[in-house]
Amino acid sequence: MTNPSARDAVLQALGTVRDPDRGTDIVRSNAVRELRVEDGKVRFLLALPKTSTPEAAACRAEAERAAMGVASIASVEVKLVNAPPEQAGMPGKRPIPGARHVIAVSSGKGGVGKSTVCVNLACAVQALGYRTGVLDGDIYGPNVPLMLGVRGRPEGSSERLFPFVSHGIQVMSMGMLVPEDQPMIWRGPMLNKAVQQFMFQVDWHDLDFLFVDMPPGTGDVQLTLTQNTDITGAVVVTTPQEVAVQDVRKAIRMFEKIEVPILGIVENMAWFQPPGSNERYEIFGSGGGARIEAEFGTPLIGQIPIGIPVREGGDSGMPITLSDPSGPIATAFLETARAMLARIPTAAATR
Ligand SMILES: Nc1ncnc2c1ncn2[C@@H]1O[C@H](COP(=O)(O)OP(=O)(O)O)[C@@H](O)[C@H]1O
Ligand SMILES: [Mg+2]
Repeated sequence: MTNPSARDAVLQALGTVRDPDRGTDIVRSNAVRELRVEDGKVRFLLALPKTSTPEAAACRAEAERAAMGVASIASVEVKLVNAPPEQAGMPGKRPIPGARHVIAVSSGKGGVGKSTVCVNLACAVQALGYRTGVLDGDIYGPNVPLMLGVRGRPEGSSERLFPFVSHGIQVMSMGMLVPEDQPMIWRGPMLNKAVQQFMFQVDWHDLDFLFVDMPPGTGDVQLTLTQNTDITGAVVVTTPQEVAVQDVRKAIRMFEKIEVPILGIVENMAWFQPPGSNERYEIFGSGGGARIEAEFGTPLIGQIPIGIPVREGGDSGMPITLSDPSGPIATAFLETARAMLARIPTAAATR
């Protein structure tokens, strides 16, 4: 079994090892590839521009030592591979054609409302006058098409896929690569390659903001998505209780490590206010976003209440921000969108 916390610990340890050629550590420089942490065994490729030098051998030895230093790790297997010259130097983060800003919407764990927030933020930012799109990168749980009322297969060729347009929002899902009702069985390198390709083959049309619904957690796919793409910033979604907040800490550390700025935390399901009542019930506790803000200095940019129509909107393909644009939940999403835009120095300039 893959143990996510062991994986985090290994990544953190490898982050202390200097890349001999690229003036940074081997995680930041993207030299660590195809990392597997299973049953106390670590395996990865160490991709360096020069593999036969004493420096490369020393780097490999140091990487092995660092990984072995992690508590639950019993064996480490590192294979030195030659990085193609164009991948040498700082990791190549490529812009996504057709999208001025890419926003990664992420969460420490599933079920906190990441997809709901992603889709409604895209609607809210559109309502503020920007052209928006949503890429569903949650390969194992692609919900964006349902939430935005998109069905069927995308048109295009294997090199160029045309996004759907729903409610004026351009939409593409990685889930559309596999037939419905069929579990995704891709693993490791094959999946990473598909994700990378997919990121750059969608024919986005003149977007101000592309929101990417990231897979939950801090695994391979997240790294692949974020290490290769020029991302403006990340929005991290959580719920108020401590168990959710714990996972958010990991997500924040991952983004720090790969130098993606965090635009802010959105606390979803912050409270429930019955219609017609002034009473607020904090069903999942309170203060999660504020704790993260205090701990990391990452601002809490929004609090979204629980609302039955939020779930209904998700199931019917008509997000609450569009169906009830002046209601309390849409207002919360619009405020969140404004706070997010304020954290992007150049956002105003794109209008
Ligand atoms: N603020 C909210 N109020 C009510 N239901 C919500 C809210 N946020 C999310 N949900 C519902 O909770 C479920 C999980 O949300 P989802 O966005 O799919 O989570 P994730 O993408 O993090 O797994 C969905 O049925 C969604 O409609
Ligand atoms: Mg989801």
